[in-house]
Amino acid sequence: MMKIHNLPEAYAKVHLPSKVAMAVTVKPDGNFNLITLEWFMRTSIAPPMFAISIGHSRYSYDCLQDNRYFNLVFPGSTQKQLLTLAGSQSGRDVDKFSAGQVSSFPGKLKKLPILKDAVACFECEVLSQVKSGDHTIFVGEVKYSWSNDDEDLFFFPKKAD
Ligand SMILES: Cc1cc2nc3c(=O)[nH]c(=O)nc-3n(C[C@H](O)[C@H](O)[C@H](O)COP(=O)(O)O)c2cc1C
Repeated sequence: MMKIHNLPEAYAKVHLPSKVAMAVTVKPDGNFNLITLEWFMRTSIAPPMFAISIGHSRYSYDCLQDNRYFNLVFPGSTQKQLLTLAGSQSGRDVDKFSAGQVSSFPGKLKKLPILKDAVACFECEVLSQVKSGDHTIFVGEVKYSWSNDDEDLFFFPKKAD
């Protein structure tokens, strides 16, 4: 039977298992940062676009103010530890590319790194942004798409009861 619950209780029923992604952004010093994301979506077919929602406290938010590019990374099944690192440490304190021993090569758009162990990477240029409470939604147009036939997608599993 449907009943009124608070949001965390109701949302807990529907958000796992879920796809999870990471976004690479450009730091002011020209190096790169990584953030784990659950709030992202495809938003246009032609041109292809993705939107990502970034909290205002995140270092990735600061990076996106200066450098209007991100690489949306769909992780491979071996990248669980990197997802944990990218989702729990801030790029203000840690260089996640070296701490996570990320294997990458330069992409085409502003040389945003392409993660070798990912399933797919989409190099995006930010076209617009909209504030959404304590997050901002950055809408990016996909400029280059990469995919890897040798990897399976990582899914964030349902929590054990
Ligand atoms: C599974 C998972 C999903 C997350 N989804 C988001 C998200 O969609 N948007 C966001 O701003 N932060 C999200 N976070 C939190 C950030 O990844 C986390 O605060 C990170 O340390 C921020 O790094 P930064 O300060 O280097 O940008 C998520 C974390 C986890 C573990």
